[in-house]
Amino acid sequence: MAYATKAGSTAEVAAEIGRVIGSEGDCVVDVRPVEQLEGIDGYDAVVVGSGIRAGRWLPEAMKFVESHRKALRRVPVALFAVCLTMREDTEENRSEVAAYLDPVCEVVQPVEVGLFAGVMDYGRLPLLLRLMVKKMGAPEGDFRDWEAVRAWASQVSVRLGVKRPAV
Ligand SMILES: Cc1cc2nc3c(=O)[nH]c(=O)nc-3n(C[C@H](O)[C@H](O)[C@H](O)COP(=O)(O)O)c2cc1C
Repeated sequence: MAYATKAGSTAEVAAEIGRVIGSEGDCVVDVRPVEQLEGIDGYDAVVVGSGIRAGRWLPEAMKFVESHRKALRRVPVALFAVCLTMREDTEENRSEVAAYLDPVCEVVQPVEVGLFAGVMDYGRLPLLLRLMVKKMGAPEGDFRDWEAVRAWASQVSVRLGVKRPAV
């Protein structure tokens, strides 16, 4: 599990996904910020996720997939994004957020894509950014849907070959 976060909400989502995958099968799951991973040698599958800023994955997450593109093409990869648009899980919002991931999917073909609602906490932003997002009218709150995160992690466990599908 590799993730990128600015304000911390994606780190907690990644930790929960890692916990579920680890509990579903006979495997060891490492959950680490992308900056702490030098490569993916030794991993049988990879999940990469990032918080969204200005309609994009964070640059360090993008850099991670670009730097390891060859290795990532050799193992199953699942991708996810954490953002405010998904606080309302509508078809329209899903396609908007799925499009945020288009540049990533050009580099690596995921077996699953997870789109999750995140957190807006003005208090965790530097002053200028706080003024900017307030002005844009971004709603404050923790919009994470942990059931949706866990359900996706469980589905991913099957797709990554960690867990047998339910019969
Ligand atoms: C400066 C800024 C820009 C953002 N841009 C978007 C955006 O374009 N689309 C969106 O859905 N959410 C956007 N968000 C919301 C974040 O994706 C959300 O707060 C997410 O939970 C952040 O993840 P993190 O806590 O791991 O950094 C933005 C947040 C900030 C602070």
